[in-house]
Amino acid sequence: MIAALALSASLATGPVAWVAVGDGIPEPLGGHRGDAARGAALVADRGKTLCLLCHQAAVAGPHAPAALQGNLSTDLRGAGTRWTAAQLRLRVADSRHLNPASPMPTMHARRTDAQDDATARVGAPWRGQPVLSAQELEDIVAWLETQR
Ligand code: HEC
Repeated sequence: MIAALALSASLATGPVAWVAVGDGIPEPLGGHRGDAARGAALVADRGKTLCLLCHQAAVAGPHAPAALQGNLSTDLRGAGTRWTAAQLRLRVADSRHLNPASPMPTMHARRTDAQDDATARVGAPWRGQPVLSAQELEDIVAWLETQR
């Protein structure tokens, strides 16, 4: 019951509108402050994020051994030196905003009209919902900033 309530609460949040300036999103989504430890746990959790399908990352967990990490894209070590928080936020929220051909899934789309909605074919409770909530996205950005 509690789990069901928690699930419906997290599904009810919906996408938060964000504004890109240049190649970044300067303001934290929904004004949330990120927590780097929670971000590391999310990145290590393949059931939730799938980052490790394509990237290598310095995270630990039963599903995160280096041998099972992907090599389709970058090693996320050093991401905090390559990019500012604003640049990281846009790259994780919507990589396709910068490169429409990017294979990296959009994690927090700001588009909500049905035509552009990449979630149009998922089950009704998930339709129109971001892959990562605003808080989860900020947690991952906070963790990426520590990757130097
Ligand atoms: C299906 C593959 C895939 C998944 C899943 C994926 N990415 Fe990416 N990511 C890419 C590719 C490819 C790029 C290179 C940019 C492009 O394609 O335009 C990239 C770029 C990035 C970059 C900027 C490049 C760098 O390393 O400095 C960051 C940061 C990043 N991804 C983080 C993440 C995080 C965090 C997740 C999980 C929430 C994730 N990615 C999930 C494929 C993926």
